[in-house]
Amino acid sequence: MTLIADCQAAPVAGLTIPQAETSEQECLAYNNIYCGDARTLLKRVEPNSVALSFWSPPYFVGKSYETALTFEGWQDLLREVISLHFPIIKPGGFLVINSADILAFSDPRMPRIQADNISTRKSPVTREQVLAAKEAHPDFNRHQLAALLGCSEQTIQRRAENNNVRGGKYKPQTRVQLVGGLIDKWATDAGFFLYDRRAWVKDPCWANSRWHSLSYRSVDEFEYLYVFWKPGITVVDRKRLAKEEWSEGGSRGTWHFQSVRSHVTHEAEFPVELPRRVIKLLSAPNDLVLDCFIGSGTSAEAAIWEGRKYIGFDLVPEYVAQAQRRCFQAQLEIPA
Ligand SMILES: C[S@@+](CC[C@H](N)C(=O)[O-])C[C@H]1O[C@@H](n2cnc3c(N)ncnc32)[C@H](O)[C@@H]1O
Repeated sequence: MTLIADCQAAPVAGLTIPQAETSEQECLAYNNIYCGDARTLLKRVEPNSVALSFWSPPYFVGKSYETALTFEGWQDLLREVISLHFPIIKPGGFLVINSADILAFSDPRMPRIQADNISTRKSPVTREQVLAAKEAHPDFNRHQLAALLGCSEQTIQRRAENNNVRGGKYKPQTRVQLVGGLIDKWATDAGFFLYDRRAWVKDPCWANSRWHSLSYRSVDEFEYLYVFWKPGITVVDRKRLAKEEWSEGGSRGTWHFQSVRSHVTHEAEFPVELPRRVIKLLSAPNDLVLDCFIGSGTSAEAAIWEGRKYIGFDLVPEYVAQAQRRCFQAQLEIPA
C-alpha cells in the first residue's frame, strides 16, 4: 500500500482520522481529503463520478500559498485543472468556479502610469513650476532652485524627474486582467458549456486594494461563480430548495453575504454559505462533490451538512489537516 498523496497530511491533535491510502492504480475513495497537486490527483478520480465540482483557485494575488506562481504558471494550472475535470464529471453535471473577475498584479512590462497623487503631496510646488524655474534660471543648481521655490531639494528632484508616480520610481506597475473570458475559453475547449454566471456580493476588501488609494479604481467587493455544464441529462428538481430559498438565492443572479473576516484558518476561506448554496442548487443528496483546491475544507463541510459525498485536494499539508478536522467535526455535529 502506498500513500496516495504527494505529501502526508500533518497529524491532527487528539483525533484519529483515517488517512487515505490506496494503490497507485485505484481510484480515490470518496469522503476523504487528499494532500497533493490537483493535476495529479484529478487523474485518480473515477470517471463520470462527480455530480458537482466547486472550487476557488489560487487567485494569483500574492497569498502565501501562491508566491511561487507566475501569471503564465497560473494560467497553465487552471487550464490543465479545468481540462482534467471533463472525464470525471458526470454527464449532465456541473463545474462551478468561484473567482474574482479581475486580477491585479505587478507587471514589469506595463508602461508606467503617470498617476501623480497630488492629494498626498507634502509640498504644493508643481512640476510645471519647477520646469519654469529651471528654464528661467538654467544655471541654478537644485539647492538654488529649492531656495527660489521655497521647497526641499528632494521636491525639486522628484518633480523634475517626474517620479512622484504611483508605486514610486522603481516598482513595477499594477496591471489588471479580466479572468472570466480565460476561464470560459479553457472550459469550452475542454468540452463544457457555460450554463450560468452569478455574482457573490461580499464586503469591500479594503486590505486587498493596496493600489486603491493611488488610483481611480474601485475596491474589490464581489466575485463571480462561473457555472459550466457537461452535456448529458440534468435532472431539474425544484423541490431541492424551499420556496423562500428560490426567491432569496436559487433564482437570483446576485448573492449577498459577508466573506470570512478573521482568516484564522485560511487566508482565502469561503463562508460555508457559499458552497452550501451551490451544493444544494446543483447536486442531489448522496451525489459526489469535489473541491480540488479545498483549503480549510469548507466545501467538504457544506457537502456533509447537505448529505452529499465529498472529495477534496490541497497542496499544503496544514490545510489538508484543517480540512480533515473540519469534516470530522461536521460529522460529529450532524444529527443522526
Ligand atoms: C483560494 S484557496 C481555497 C480556499 C478554500 N475554498 C477555503 O474555503 O478554505 C486555494 C487553495 O488551493 C491550494 N492550491 C494551490 N495550488 C494547488 C495545486 N496545484 N493543487 C492543489 N491545491 C493547490 C492552496 O493551498 C489553497 O489552499
